[in-house]
Amino acid sequence: MKILDIATRPFDGQRPGTSGLRKKVGVFRQPHYLENFVQSLFDALPGLAGQTLVLGGDGRFHNRSAIRTILRMAAANGVGKVLVGRGGLLSTPAVSAVIRKRGAYGGIILSASHNPGGPDGDFGIKYNIGNGGPAPEKVTEAIYARTREIARYLIAGDTPEVEIDTLGPRRLGDMQVDVIDPVADYAELMQGLFDFGAMRAWFAAGHRMRCDAMCAVGGPYAKAILEGMLGAPAGTVVNGEPLEDFGGHHPDPNPVHATGLIGAMRGPGAPDFGAASDGDADRNMILGRDFVVTPSDSLAVLAANATLVPGYATGLAGIARSMPTSRAADAVAGALGIPCFETPTGWKFFGNLLDAGRATLCGEESYGTGSAHVREKDGLWAILFWLNLQAATGLSVEELVRRHWTRFGRHYYSRHDWEGIPAERAEALMAELRGKLPGLAGREFAGALRIAQADDFAYTDPVDGSVSTGQGVRLLFEGGGRIVFRLSGTGTEGATLRVYLERFEPDPSRHDVPTQDALAALVAAAEAVAGIRAHTGMQGPGVVT
Ligand code: G6P
Ligand code: ZN
Repeated sequence: MKILDIATRPFDGQRPGTSGLRKKVGVFRQPHYLENFVQSLFDALPGLAGQTLVLGGDGRFHNRSAIRTILRMAAANGVGKVLVGRGGLLSTPAVSAVIRKRGAYGGIILSASHNPGGPDGDFGIKYNIGNGGPAPEKVTEAIYARTREIARYLIAGDTPEVEIDTLGPRRLGDMQVDVIDPVADYAELMQGLFDFGAMRAWFAAGHRMRCDAMCAVGGPYAKAILEGMLGAPAGTVVNGEPLEDFGGHHPDPNPVHATGLIGAMRGPGAPDFGAASDGDADRNMILGRDFVVTPSDSLAVLAANATLVPGYATGLAGIARSMPTSRAADAVAGALGIPCFETPTGWKFFGNLLDAGRATLCGEESYGTGSAHVREKDGLWAILFWLNLQAATGLSVEELVRRHWTRFGRHYYSRHDWEGIPAERAEALMAELRGKLPGLAGREFAGALRIAQADDFAYTDPVDGSVSTGQGVRLLFEGGGRIVFRLSGTGTEGATLRVYLERFEPDPSRHDVPTQDALAALVAAAEAVAGIRAHTGMQGPGVVT
């Protein structure tokens, strides 16, 4: 194998965020851009030579070409073996599962998650470590430091292209490449957690489901498991072929972007169960007939009923939720006598709790749910969990949620997003809000609401003691209401202010109020306290979910 030593110069801005390096496709297609980042990654991984890496992506535009480059660079850098998903496909949770099952050194995932794809869309690359979870900041900062000083990269020069569309081992110079079935390890893991017999019987009894894979990588997984292993009728999975541009859609499973699914779940002829997953299949949305489940409620319902699922039959060690996620899960944890951890936004904060065995289920309001079975959120896992609960109880999605509210009370919940705010205005709004915090407790806004506590959320990781401050402003109201203000950490244009609104309603006779009506007083209080309209010059939130 001939190893080419290519001279290069650093690119600005190759700092990986929480979900890796994410840029427009055009940025990634610049000569040396991907190569610089991959070499910096390899340089930052001690003892990589001879090790096994997992490699795959969500199938978006540029996936194949990036895989070709990464394979040639891995061979030149002395990697022992690369496990590649057939066709270059692997979902984010599947990479996590494969790393863990095969004891791999780590894995590279090519994805920009729920961001649109195609030549004008986004591309991304992220690295996961040996526990199957996203690289911690120590690793991503080391990669970034390398990108700033990189002067050369290594790439195999004289090797024929590796064929990745059929299963089996092959060689690329001195390195072995195993093309693996992207679904097999993951499906086996799911089989060990869920009651496949009961779920098969549920479909056999004539129940119908619509699983929208949004033309992304979740399709092959959903088809193999739902239609293949569980006997769901063909056509249960829609938009099941991964497309390079996701069919021109925004592969984000929420009521704003999955309008097709929302429409299909309306009316008496609708299927019993609706679900969707995102670009790399780690997010999920759950629906019943004429019924949308909020991600916060989803976590709480799964936790309350977990012992009905074989993989969780012995109970949960604890539950973890991100701070803006509603406190519905806390009510369940309280009833079960287990801890509920409140972490900053971002899946990475669950890693230590999962590794230490202190939390079993985790969830975020941003349509992420998961458990200790992998170290990523997992869309299809959540969908199968809901399916298992329906099969085990004979109840519909709506019945499961209503029964839950009757027992634990309802946490009305909504998120109002103010997008595209000039960054300095958004910063000014937050700074003013933070400045007001000391004087807010005891004050009343918009009529009956009195603030019991007001703070800027800080988190001390109970496992390693690390402290994260400035994670979002919380206003906690008497009677269980709450408003959270934080700036999105994932936006690409200007700043996005997220206002999370929550109100607790214990009385079952008041569980049918339209959500925005139930939260109207809190919406008014948020405006009164933060002056959002004055700061942004906008008339209202652009997105309400
Ligand atoms: C990504 C992360 C999630 C996180 C979300 C928050 O999707 O994987 O863990 O909840 O970003 O995004 P935001 O825009 O609210 O910072
Ligand atoms: Zn995702």
